[in-house]
Amino acid sequence: MTDSREGVNRVMAEFVPVTKVGDLSPGQMKWVAVNRERVLLANVDGMFYALSDACGHQRVPLSKGRLEGYVVECPLHFARFDVRTGELLSGPAAADVPRHEVHVEGDTVYVKRVESAR
Ligand code: FES
Repeated sequence: MTDSREGVNRVMAEFVPVTKVGDLSPGQMKWVAVNRERVLLANVDGMFYALSDACGHQRVPLSKGRLEGYVVECPLHFARFDVRTGELLSGPAAADVPRHEVHVEGDTVYVKRVESAR
């Protein structure tokens, strides 16, 4: 038997504070460290999204690419991914990019790496 309140606390504890809301303007992205892994954090119209910061083709950091609306473009061979889902939209990559959970509380952005994401 699990105490439900304890369960909620455990889930929240997995979220890591990564930046202040005001430090990443709409239309911008940057990489942040979450449990020693690079994570791409993007602000699209005030909503924050997080993906693994590695292209699904040759693992180049997507944070060095371009963000246009909901689309992030790899700087090397220009594969394009939807930052909301990590879905591959076009380009030579063979795989989607793992998406991570984002939580905003007050002026702080938190990210929780999804278990299956690498
Ligand atoms: S490394 Fe990203 S498209 Fe090739």
